[in-house]
Amino acid sequence: MLERSHPPLLEVDRLSRHFPVRGFLGRRVATLRALDDVSFTMEDGEVLGIVGETGSGKSTLGKTLMGIHAPTAGEVRLGGTRIAAPGLRRAASVRARLQYVYQDPGASLDPRWTLRRSLHEPLRIHTNWSRDRREAKVQEIVAAVDLPRTHLDLYPHEISGGQLRRAGLARILVLNPQLVILDEPTAGLDVSVQAAILALLRELRREFSLTYIVISHDLAVVRSFSDRVAVMYLGRIVEIGPTAEVFGGPRHPYTRSLLAAAPRVGGPRVTESFLLLGEPPDPLQLPWGCRFRTRCRLAMPECGGLAVQLDYEAGHGVACPRWRQWDMGHRPAPPGSEAPWPHR
Ligand SMILES: Nc1ncnc2c1ncn2[C@@H]1O[C@H](COP(=O)(O)OP(=O)(O)OP(=O)(O)O)[C@@H](O)[C@H]1O
Ligand SMILES: [Mg+2]
Repeated sequence: MLERSHPPLLEVDRLSRHFPVRGFLGRRVATLRALDDVSFTMEDGEVLGIVGETGSGKSTLGKTLMGIHAPTAGEVRLGGTRIAAPGLRRAASVRARLQYVYQDPGASLDPRWTLRRSLHEPLRIHTNWSRDRREAKVQEIVAAVDLPRTHLDLYPHEISGGQLRRAGLARILVLNPQLVILDEPTAGLDVSVQAAILALLRELRREFSLTYIVISHDLAVVRSFSDRVAVMYLGRIVEIGPTAEVFGGPRHPYTRSLLAAAPRVGGPRVTESFLLLGEPPDPLQLPWGCRFRTRCRLAMPECGGLAVQLDYEAGHGVACPRWRQWDMGHRPAPPGSEAPWPHR
């Protein structure tokens, strides 16, 4: 076997985050498995898209990687160093290397502060630089995200939504992160602003050698932006692989219905596309075995008895024990043609 000379940038190893559900007198009555036994790796400079229905655990994954949530089990390594595991305290130096861009761009900026103060603040916390040195860095980053320098004296409510995104990006970039998690980077923006933000993100990736995890409802964004894509369903990754392969030849029945429900992945927003057959199960009472089997047209009794793991073939992983059988008769239609999923 080929020896690797260096570890991948990010290694996520059987990561779980469960939330206790409390009832009367704060007694723990159930456990919500928001993220359950998730593993994948990422190379330096890669863009990994994360898609899945609402509540599938995308943000929980991002926040657990970030250290906002402590993992319930499993671990995360960055450049070979363990940065997250149950009970592990994260070093400050590591905190700056990973940054999370919140879905709500206003959330990262204090409404009472000018942009200048918001951008100086992370540098004050993480460095011992002089004010002049910080100001030079802030000016450099503000130029990189294409914000007018005069905006540094404005407050968040005085700038537009698109500019707020740029300011949110500037706030994390001052710290020279390596891995940036973008949670719904284009949600709530109109199409032209979306395109400008995506173009900016591409440019920043090159300029600052960034690695991105992009969480999005918008399949078109993920398709155009990511090298690889991971599909999540109820806390698990059900499929992961090169973007062109996952979109062009999805292997998991869930991915298939997700894409089929998106009438035109190349078109405008497809937020409404996650309409699947039936309702998702109660997250507090997940089915045994494959969690998708209650909505899967191809489910067999055996799907309920297996701990379904991702089965990889040439870098494309799928967590369905039956995909090899059913894939034979369900070759994907070429892009742009009829949805491949058989309709009722
Ligand atoms: N802090 C928390 N406490 C308890 N439950 C939580 C917490 N955060 C998330 N959850 C639950 O975990 C599950 C996954 O939530 P998460 O926010 O990760 O989903 P998501 O895929 O990001 O959804 P969306 O697309 O709507 O943003 C949901 O059932 C949610 O209610
Ligand atoms: Mg979310």
